[in-house]
Amino acid sequence: MAIADGEKERVLAATDIVNLISERTGLKRSGSRWVGLCPFHNERTGSFYVNANEGRYYCFGCHQKGDAIEWVRQTQHFDFVDALRYLADKAGLTLQETESTGPTRNRKGYLEAMDKAVSWYHDQLLTSPDAAAARGYLRSRGYDGETVRRFQLGWAPDEWDKLATTFDLSADILDGTGLGFINARGRKQDFLRARIIFPIFDPSGKPIAVGGRILPPAPGHEPSGRPEPKYKNSPETVIYSKRKTLYGLNWAKDDVVRTGEIIVCEGYTDVIAFFNAGLPRAVATCGTALAEDHFRTMRNFASRIVLAYDGDFAGQNAAAAVYQWEKSHDVEVRVAKFPTGVDPAELAQRDPEALREAISSATPFLQFRVERALASASLDTAEGRARAAEGAVAMIAEHPSDLVRDQYLQVVADRCRLDVDRLRKMMSSPRPAATREFVEAPVPQGAIDLSQNRAAVNALLAMVNEPDLTDGRFVAAYFSVPEHRVVFESLASGELVRTAIDRLESIGETGAADLLERLVAYPEPPSDVTDEAIDEMADHLLRQACRSALGDIPRLVREQALAGDEAAAIVADVQHYVGLLDSPQRLDATHALIEWLVGFDEAYRP
Ligand code: UTP
Ligand code: MN
Repeated sequence: MAIADGEKERVLAATDIVNLISERTGLKRSGSRWVGLCPFHNERTGSFYVNANEGRYYCFGCHQKGDAIEWVRQTQHFDFVDALRYLADKAGLTLQETESTGPTRNRKGYLEAMDKAVSWYHDQLLTSPDAAAARGYLRSRGYDGETVRRFQLGWAPDEWDKLATTFDLSADILDGTGLGFINARGRKQDFLRARIIFPIFDPSGKPIAVGGRILPPAPGHEPSGRPEPKYKNSPETVIYSKRKTLYGLNWAKDDVVRTGEIIVCEGYTDVIAFFNAGLPRAVATCGTALAEDHFRTMRNFASRIVLAYDGDFAGQNAAAAVYQWEKSHDVEVRVAKFPTGVDPAELAQRDPEALREAISSATPFLQFRVERALASASLDTAEGRARAAEGAVAMIAEHPSDLVRDQYLQVVADRCRLDVDRLRKMMSSPRPAATREFVEAPVPQGAIDLSQNRAAVNALLAMVNEPDLTDGRFVAAYFSVPEHRVVFESLASGELVRTAIDRLESIGETGAADLLERLVAYPEPPSDVTDEAIDEMADHLLRQACRSALGDIPRLVREQALAGDEAAAIVADVQHYVGLLDSPQRLDATHALIEWLVGFDEAYRP
């Protein structure tokens, strides 16, 4: 399946990027920007800006940037299509997919090829000299031979077509299994190279896909160039649906049925850690979020689902969906608590007993969220307690059961020393939308290089912030720095910012694309830009451009062999108009000067 044209635009238009990002990091409003602590690097003051109108974020500290899709890709390790699906789900849209033209009939052939490939990868790991480092790495993680065999771990050799040539796989098979592809030079190429293979099986135990992990670089051999992703997973194929597949279910299902409980974690290595810690009922999604289909599958085996994500898991994004699933599938969802930033595999290596404890003491989803909210609040002041209560009540309000809600209200009332009736009232009156504080955000250090031409940058900022007021007020000739001019032309053309950024990047204008990102993220001036201010800017730029034109004349005379009288005429022209700028004929002079300047620019500046 492929995504139909225009779906990306439709999903982005339906996505509220501020809500989306607020699920992970607190944002405060500052004009049309939102600002907060950057989720991608450690910082004490916010350098992370979101422009709600343009749907983009930018961190002036670590330079992470993008739109809502990029956000989901970066924060959740999704590929493009899954990120798009995730956002579509959230917005309640159904993506229009087009039948891919690829092969669909040869299911049996694909399954056979996948089976052969997985055995071969496994063999490579066990016997190939080229896999020595991989074997060493797995040993260092505590994987013994039994683990390697049980999970059929493998090794994709450090060659570009070893699998394809060993089995002489056809183009159709490569494509239908995702094991390879025809490269730009028309040659067959393996999808995975120099990676540890985690085969993915269907519940009956047939391999349907593979995940491949890179080895950590040997000390002193840090990779140069673009870093490779830690995992590469098979693409969606006719034998592999990511939205349905749970890694590990084939091995876990017996214990799941026996205990009625299934543990869901995030990674292949987490699943293996649970098995090795004596909890052989763990599964993982394969680089995607937990979806409705996954729930349906789990419900066939278990009545209790324990979410075992690392300590950063806030669970807000899934909240509404989780209650929905609980109700419609009649399952109970619990959450296991892990220390911040620690995932099950890490905990298991440190302390297997703590891993088992985390599962046996998992709490209902709502309890987990409320406890977290209270734990992070400062309950020793009246204000802190009030704020904590407001946050907790908002979470409780999402739960569909009246009885459940009431019990949690009681807990919150006790902890925050408030009257439970007050909380009940609070819950029934919807919170006003604008509870988020307005801040006047400081300009992040080094946000934009102003050394080149501050007036031009200010004009570009005004164009970003006040497109109506600035419409038609500036001309390209005011922008002498090439990047400024490229950005000016894009803004003046009225093209969408995100279209412009994609376009500029595709034609290699990365400096201009980055400047545009920064302008869009840059804090808005605290007071409105007035007409007069824009007049002043335009005036200033006009004079500046004239001065620069005059300054260029000696060079033009030399380079373009201007006749002396031509140069003199130019100088006289400019001086004439500039002289008029402070006279009663100012307006006419401005128009004439702009016209002159545009002509000069076209004639003399390539
Ligand atoms: P993690 O980065 O937590 O990896 O990603 P991990 O499973 O703990 O692996 P180890 O222990 O560091 O070796 C969790 C899961 O997210 C998906 C994979 O499915 C992975 O198991 N993922 C992660 C990707 O698909 N691509 C990536 O680049 C990273
Ligand atoms: Mn991990």
